[in-house]
Amino acid sequence: MRIAVAHIKGGVSKSTTAVHLAAAAAKRGPTLLIDGDPQASAASWAAWRRDAKRSPSPTTIVLKDRAVLDEGRTLSANYETTIVDVGGRDSGALRAALLLADLAIIPVGASSFDAATMTDLQEIIGMARDFNRDLKVKILLSRIDPRTKNTETKELIEFLQEEGMEILESIICERVGFRRAIKEGATVEELGKDQLAINEMQALFNEVLK
Ligand SMILES: Nc1ncnc2c1ncn2[C@@H]1O[C@H](COP(=O)(O)OP(=O)(O)O)[C@@H](O)[C@H]1O
Ligand SMILES: [Mg+2]
Repeated sequence: MRIAVAHIKGGVSKSTTAVHLAAAAAKRGPTLLIDGDPQASAASWAAWRRDAKRSPSPTTIVLKDRAVLDEGRTLSANYETTIVDVGGRDSGALRAALLLADLAIIPVGASSFDAATMTDLQEIIGMARDFNRDLKVKILLSRIDPRTKNTETKELIEFLQEEGMEILESIICERVGFRRAIKEGATVEELGKDQLAINEMQALFNEVLK
């Protein structure tokens, strides 16, 4: 299974989602984490993880632009699960990731949502599908304010569904646990302090990787 966590926006929790999925998958079997973002936040997390001697870890590599597809295709054949993180803009790496993946997860925040950007992203996804016909694309509602979860997401879900987009049942809320975990090269589960965050990530893993 090859999953790209992608968007043409930054700050929507692509890297947070990618490293959590990769760490959870690594507990189950050989896992490759490809960092296609020049800012390399997933690779930084992996380095902090090594420093903190946490395990198991996904094998983590940084790949540039279309190497995400070329190298990624060869390398991912040796892993049960491959997770690709990309930067927050339209880039060679993003397009390569969409060609490599079986599933693209698109994190979307309710407060930072912007329809024009979504249209641009859908166009890029459409092009990827010309070559990668079986690509599944699912929206992940992420960084949702837990206090206004239901009202905030309702309109957004309606809009996305009208646009013909599939939405994952799992929702990730804005929770401090996620920030803390990343800084420590950990997952929310490993820190064990934020049960709601743990439950949300577990549900996401079960939905996309079980
Ligand atoms: N669910 C969340 N709750 C709280 N903070 C989050 C959450 N997801 C991401 N963040 C924080 O938001 C910022 C952007 O997240 P990041 O995963 O780096 O996004 P992206 O990779 O899309 O740019 C980071 O500071 C991160 O710690
Ligand atoms: Mg990122």
